[in-house]
Amino acid sequence: MHRGKGMKFVGDSRVPANRKPNIPKDYSEYPGKTEAFWPNFLLKEWMVGAVFLVGFLCLTIAHPSPLERIADPTDTGYIPMPDWYFLFLYEMLKYSYASGPYNLIGLVIPGIAFVGLLLAPFIDRGPERRPLKRPLATGFMLLAVSAVFYLTWEAAAHHDWKKAAEQGAIRPQVTIDKNSDGYKIFSKQTCITCHGDNLQGGAVAPALTNVPFNAAKIEDIAQHGYQKMPPNQFKGSKADLKKLADFIAGLKSNK
Ligand code: HEC
Repeated sequence: MHRGKGMKFVGDSRVPANRKPNIPKDYSEYPGKTEAFWPNFLLKEWMVGAVFLVGFLCLTIAHPSPLERIADPTDTGYIPMPDWYFLFLYEMLKYSYASGPYNLIGLVIPGIAFVGLLLAPFIDRGPERRPLKRPLATGFMLLAVSAVFYLTWEAAAHHDWKKAAEQGAIRPQVTIDKNSDGYKIFSKQTCITCHGDNLQGGAVAPALTNVPFNAAKIEDIAQHGYQKMPPNQFKGSKADLKKLADFIAGLKSNK
């Protein structure tokens, strides 16, 4: 039985066949295979870099970044959402034992996972490469991959995409004349508490700029409510109601 005798197995880079001092090879061993770093090699690198740069520029023109409206720190109703590759971490922080008073756990679990990944080459030094013979490493890998998939899926499934799109929509700006009669009437009514002092809307009610209704319908809404808006909000004279409705109907951007 002299199997393998005289052969060198070099398949596993972690197990050197025979240790050599760490001296780079002399390039005179490869005649004709060397090239000057400057300018030959660098020029090639620059050309490849330029191709990628132009490619990325074309992509950014073809696919503008999906911007939302300007961030408003006073809007507590806004649901923030990380990019897809962080969704699993985001979802984990929603579980009761990983959030609030247990927030530390929500940070420690991914922390352990990433430190473990970092230390893997130092912890797992055996020459064995078959996954089935390395149950711990394989097990942890499968656990992590399935957790990442499951949590990402859950986060995407439980996100209110429609509401988020509404919240983030860029609305054209409308200038509001605060000295107008309409605004003065508006500011004395309850409307202002829900729809905001710039009629910009908020967590409970939509903006009153660019509303898709005419003045008559707005009068009706102010008196009788509308879907989730409770009725009998307007208190005052008919003439004032009409002024208010005309004012809101006139809050249109030019777009
Ligand atoms: C208690 C909070 C509240 C008050 C006060 C209130 N609204 Fe509203 N309003 C809402 C909500 C919520 C909606 C959205 C209803 C829906 O679509 O389900 C709404 C919707 C509207 C709409 C339709 C907007 C759109 O684009 O769909 C108009 C117009 C309106 N309100 C006018 C008024 C006026 C005028 C007043 C004052 C007389 C007023 N609201 C007072 C909560 C309020």
